Amino acid sequence: MIGGDPYFSTLSLFVFLFVPSLPLSLFLSSQVEVYSVTVDCTVASRFAHTVLTSSAINKANTSQEIFFEVEMPKTAFITNFSMEIEGQAYVGEVKEKEKAKKQYEKAVSSGQTAGLVKVSGRKMEKFSVSVNIAANSNVTFVLTYQELLQRKLGQYEILTRVKPKQLVQNFQIEVDIYEPQGIAFVDAYGTFLSNELLPLVEKTVTDNKAHISFSPTLEQQRKCPGCDGTLIDGDFIVKYDVNRAKTLGDIQIVNGYFVHFFAPPDLPRVPKNVVFVIDRSGSMAGTKMDQTQEALLEILKDLHMEDYFALIPFDHEITPWKNSLMKATEENVAEAMKYVSGLFARGGTNINDAVLRAVNMLINDRKNNNVPDRNLDMIILLTDGLPEAETRPPKIQENVRGAIDGNMSLFCLGFGNNVDYTFLDVMARQNKGVARRIYEASDATLQLQGFYEEVSSPLLSEVDLRYPDNAVEFVTTNHFRQLFNGSEIVVAGRLSDNDINNFLVEVFANGFEEDFKVQGQASAMEWDVIYPDQEYIFGDFTERMWAYLTIQQLLEKSKSGPSEEKENNTAKALDLSLQYSFVTPLTSMVVTKPETEDGPGSPLIADKLTEAVMSTLSVYYSLYSSSDNTCTVDGDPHFMIELPEREDSLCFNINDTPGTIFNLVRDLTSGILVNGQTIGDKKIPPDGKINTYFGRFGIVHQSLGVRLDVTTKDILVSQDGKRVKMLWSDAASLKGANMDLLLTKDRSLTVTLRDSVKFVILLHKVWEKHPYHQNYLGFYTLDSHLLSPSVHGLLGQFYHGIEFEVADLRPGEVEEKPDATMYIKGQALNVTRGWQKDYRWDVKNGENVPCWFVHSNGTGLIDGDASDYVVSGLFKTV
Ligand SMILES: *[C@@H]1O[C@H](CO)[C@@H](O)[C@H](O)[C@H]1NC(C)=O
Ligand SMILES: *[C@@H]1O[C@H](CO)[C@@H](O)[C@H](O)[C@H]1NC(C)=O
Ligand SMILES: *[C@@H]1O[C@H](CO)[C@@H](O)[C@H](O)[C@H]1NC(C)=O
Ligand SMILES: *[C@@H]1O[C@H](CO)[C@@H](O)[C@H](O)[C@H]1NC(C)=O
Ligand SMILES: *[C@@H]1O[C@H](CO)[C@@H](O)[C@H](O)[C@H]1NC(C)=O
Ligand SMILES: *[C@@H]1O[C@H](CO)[C@@H](O)[C@H](O)[C@H]1NC(C)=O
Ligand SMILES: *[C@@H]1O[C@H](CO)[C@@H](O)[C@H](O)[C@H]1NC(C)=O
Ligand SMILES: *[C@@H]1O[C@H](CO)[C@@H](O)[C@H](O)[C@H]1NC(C)=O
Repeated sequence: MIGGDPYFSTLSLFVFLFVPSLPLSLFLSSQVEVYSVTVDCTVASRFAHTVLTSSAINKANTSQEIFFEVEMPKTAFITNFSMEIEGQAYVGEVKEKEKAKKQYEKAVSSGQTAGLVKVSGRKMEKFSVSVNIAANSNVTFVLTYQELLQRKLGQYEILTRVKPKQLVQNFQIEVDIYEPQGIAFVDAYGTFLSNELLPLVEKTVTDNKAHISFSPTLEQQRKCPGCDGTLIDGDFIVKYDVNRAKTLGDIQIVNGYFVHFFAPPDLPRVPKNVVFVIDRSGSMAGTKMDQTQEALLEILKDLHMEDYFALIPFDHEITPWKNSLMKATEENVAEAMKYVSGLFARGGTNINDAVLRAVNMLINDRKNNNVPDRNLDMIILLTDGLPEAETRPPKIQENVRGAIDGNMSLFCLGFGNNVDYTFLDVMARQNKGVARRIYEASDATLQLQGFYEEVSSPLLSEVDLRYPDNAVEFVTTNHFRQLFNGSEIVVAGRLSDNDINNFLVEVFANGFEEDFKVQGQASAMEWDVIYPDQEYIFGDFTERMWAYLTIQQLLEKSKSGPSEEKENNTAKALDLSLQYSFVTPLTSMVVTKPETEDGPGSPLIADKLTEAVMSTLSVYYSLYSSSDNTCTVDGDPHFMIELPEREDSLCFNINDTPGTIFNLVRDLTSGILVNGQTIGDKKIPPDGKINTYFGRFGIVHQSLGVRLDVTTKDILVSQDGKRVKMLWSDAASLKGANMDLLLTKDRSLTVTLRDSVKFVILLHKVWEKHPYHQNYLGFYTLDSHLLSPSVHGLLGQFYHGIEFEVADLRPGEVEEKPDATMYIKGQALNVTRGWQKDYRWDVKNGENVPCWFVHSNGTGLIDGDASDYVVSGLFKTV
C-alpha cells in the first residue's frame, strides 16, 4: 500500500506536469500501442454532439500508467466520460464541483492521479486523465461533449484537434450534419493535410444532410516511407452554413421544446460613424504597433463611401488625426492611411481621456450636422496596457458610460497579456459593445481585422423576439442589442402545453432606414419525416440546446448584479448542469477508478475551468503561446528550453570558472552568432558555493552588418561602421532598416533583427553594496523560427525542437524534486524535476517554471560536451 506515503502525494502532482501534450492520444511511456482513435460528431440544427474514443493496449509485461488527453472547444460542455478496462466499464457521474473537489483532494493526497483540465490555446481546453493498466491489457476511453455552434462571419465551425503522435491502426473522423433548413455549403480540411492526404477527406452533401469522413490507413498516416512518425497532427475543421429563406428565421419544435434561429437574409448595409481610439504607448513598440498599423490600413481600405471615420491615437497625450470625423472618400482614406503608417509608439496610456475625446467628437459632429443622422455611431478602442492618468477602472467606466449615455457602441480590444481584460469587457458591455482579446502572435493583424469585420456591420439593433406568453415558458434571453452581419440569434424555450402545434412568433427591431417587424406561425417539425432513418439521434436535442443556452446565460448573469440575484442564478445553473449532466464551471465529472495494486478505487475528475482560474492562467498561457521553443539562459547559468507544444521545459546548468565564453547561438547560414561570457561573485560567499552568471553578451549579424556588445553597464551597437553607446540607465527606442532596439531603463533590451531573430536581454540589478553578488544578465530568445535548420550552439540547437520521453518517476534526494528517467537521443538519463525562474514577466521575482533538470553540464541533452561550446573571444566562433 503506497497510498499514504507522503512522497507519493508530491508525485501525483508532478504527474500532471509531465504529461506531454498528446491531445486525443494515449501517452506511450513505452510499449503502449494505440490501436484506435475515432472522432464521431453529429450536428442536429447547430447542436453538436461529439464522441471521442481512444483504445490502447499495454504490451509490456508490467503494468503501466496510460494517459488520455483530449482538447475540446472552450465553449463545449463535457457530458459523459467512461473507461473500459478488461471488459469492465467505469462511467462518469456529474457532481457539484465543491463536493467533487473534496473527493479530488482526497485522491490527490492519497497519491492517486486525477483528471485535470487546462487552457490550451485560444479556442481549446485540454482534458487529461491517466490510469494504471495491467500487463497485456486493453483500455478504451470515451469522452462526449456537446456545444451549440455559433455562427460567425457567415459560417459555423466544427473544430477537432487530433494529435495521436503515433500511427494508429484504426483512425477515423466522421461528421454528420443534419440541418432541416438546407445546407448552403460545407468545407472540410485539416491544418495538417498535405496534397496527398486532402483527397482522403470524403464529403457527401445532400439537400439537408452532410457527411464528412476522413480515415487514412496506417500507411497513409506515415510521415515518410519506413518511419514511424505520423502526419496526423493538428486541427480538423468543418465549416458550413445553412440556407436562409425566411426573414422570420427558422423555428423548430421537438419534444416539447422550441428553438428559434434568427438571421434574416438581405438586410441593407448600415452606414456608420466610427472612431478608432488607438493606444500608441511605449509598450506597443515593435511588432504590436506594426500589426496594429497593418490591420488599420486594411480596415480603412474597407470603409464604404458613406461611412465617416476618425482616428484618435493616444499615449499620455491625446493626439487626434483631425478634430472631427471625415467622410470615407478615396482622398480622405488615402490621407488617413499615410497618417497611420507614420504612427510610432511612445509614452503612457491615458484611456479615460482618449475614449472621452472620441465620445465628444461624435457628439459634436452630430450637433454640427457634420455626419448624417441615420449613421450608426461606434467607437473601437484598442489598448495593450493598464490605464494611466485616471487609473481607477470603475471611475473610467462611470465617466464613459455617462458620456455615451446609451447613444453609441463601444468595442474594446485588449492586446496581449498586460491588459485588464475584465475592465474592458465590462466597459464594452455597459455601452452596447463587446470586448475581445487579441493574442500576441504572428496572426494578430488577422485577429484585429477579423474582429472588426464581425462587429463593423450591425444590421439591426434592439432586437426583440416575442412568443405567446401562454404557450411558452423558461424562454432564454430574447432581447439582443445588435444583430451583426454573418451572426445569428438563437432563442429556445419550453412549450407550456405539449399539444401546441402552432404559435405566433414576432420579431421587432430597429432597422436603420425603417423599423423591422416580422411575424409568422411556427409549427412543429417532423424530424422523423425529414430524416426517417436517423430520428433516434435527435430525441432531446432541442431540450438540451435549451439547457445549454440557459446555463450559459445564467453563468454570464451570475457575474454581475446584486449578490442575491447572483446566488439565485448560480444555484439555477448548478441545478440544470446536474440535471442535464453538463460539466460546467459549477460541476465536475467523477469517475471512480478501478482498484489496483496501488490501493482502492479512487475518483478521477473531469472539470471545466472557471473564469477565476482562467484569468490566473493568462500569464501562464502567454509563456507558451508562441509555437516556437523559447530558449533561455538566466541566473546562475541555468539554461532553459521551453517546449510550448508539450507545455514542459528542460533545463541544465554549466559549471565553469568565471570568464569563460560560451557559444549560445550560431547560424552560419544566416550569419548569426551569440556568445556569452560568465562572471563570478565579487567574492566567495560563506557557503563556499561559487556562482557564475552571464555578464556580457556578444551578438553579430554578419549579413546585416550588426554587432552588439552588451555588458551589465552599457550597450555598444555597431552597424555599418557607425557606433552608438547606450547606458542601461537610458530608455531608448531605435528603429532601423535592419534592426530595432528597445531599451527599457535598467531592465531590458529587446533586439529584433530583420527577418532573422528576436531576443531580450534582461539586466538583473543587485543591491550595489551586496557583499558577494553583482549585476548580471539573462538572455531570452523570443522568435527564432526564421533561423536555418543548421542553427546550433548551447541554445540554438534546441530552436527546432527536441524529442524526449520521461518515465519511471521515483523519489529524489529532495522530497519535492523527484527523479525520473529521460529517454533522449537514444540514451537514458537520470533527470530531476525542478524549477527554473523565468524573469520575462516579472523582472524582480521571476516566475517559477517547472522543468526537467539534466545533470552534469547537460551531458546527454546537449550535442557533444559542454567544453565544445567554449570559444576564445566574445565575437569568435572557435
Ligand atoms: C518481460 O520480462 C522479462 C523478465 O521478467 C524480461 O526479460 C523481458 O525482456 C520482458 N519482456 C518485455 C517484452 O519487456
Ligand atoms: C455514458 O457512457 C457510457 C459508456 O459509454 C454509457 O453506457 C452511458 O449510457 C452514457 N451515459 C449517458 C448519459 O449518455
Ligand atoms: C485488446 O484489443 C485487441 C483489439 O481489439 C484484441 O485483439 C485483443 O484480444 C484485446 N486484448 C485483451 C487482453 O483484451
Ligand atoms: C454581409 O456579409 C456578406 C459576406 O460576408 C456580404 O456579402 C454582405 O454584403 C454583407 N451584408 C451587409 C448588409 O453588410
Ligand atoms: C442620447 O440620446 C438621447 C436621445 O436621443 C438624448 O436625449 C441624450 O441627450 C443623448 N445623450 C447625450 C450624452 O448626448
Ligand atoms: C432568490 O431565491 C429565493 C428563494 O428561491 C427567492 O425568495 C428570492 O426572491 C430570489 N431573489 C431574487 C433576487 O431573485
Ligand atoms: C541513474 O540512477 C540510478 C539510481 O537511481 C543508477 O542506478 C543509475 O546508474 C543512474 N544512471 C545514470 C546513467 O547515471
Ligand atoms: C562541467 O562540470 C565539471 C564538474 O562539475 C566541471 O569541472 C567542468 O569544468 C564543467 N564545465 C565544462 C565546460 O565542461
